[in-house]
Amino acid sequence: VLSSGDKANVKAVWTKVQGHLEDYGAETLDRMFTVFPQTKTYFSHFDIHHGSIQVRNHGKKVMLALGDAVSHIDDIATALSALSDKHAHTLRVDPVNFKLLSHCFLVVVAKHHPALLTPDVHVSLDKFLGTVSTVLTSKYR
Ligand code: HEM
Repeated sequence: VLSSGDKANVKAVWTKVQGHLEDYGAETLDRMFTVFPQTKTYFSHFDIHHGSIQVRNHGKKVMLALGDAVSHIDDIATALSALSDKHAHTLRVDPVNFKLLSHCFLVVVAKHHPALLTPDVHVSLDKFLGTVSTVLTSKYR
């Protein structure tokens, strides 16, 4: 459960992230595909080479969805309901992959904002990404 302190920390992170949605989203995906190549199987219909415009566009979509969750941090399940249906029923992404994407996003935030990611903020962001992942994998069965 996200405490009020967690929510404040996540909102603070987002003020730093929201000006770089496409860059950070693309870097997150780029790292995920490189470090965890099994994740590429879901994107066989994509051009996923480094710098691909498709990856940039998709990265921005993923970041916008995370921003939506930040804006509705007290009711993430409702805010991401349609996206949850899509990941469960249409995309059928194995839930283990959400940890991999979340890890890569944490690395991107840490790299671009080293002073921001104190252990307290790190745990808040990790909890938030865990909550989003739980929502997106909640309709599988
Ligand atoms: C599509 C967000 C995790 C695979 C999408 C879309 C969004 C999104 C916003 C576009 C939906 C639409 O066009 O209607 C997220 C968020 C995630 C997440 C916020 C976790 C924090 C993952 C993971 C994988 C994945 C872990 C697989 C490794 C896909 C695929 C598509 C998709 C294959 C369809 C891409 C296309 O054909 O355009 N996701 N996603 N997602 N997602 Fe996710």
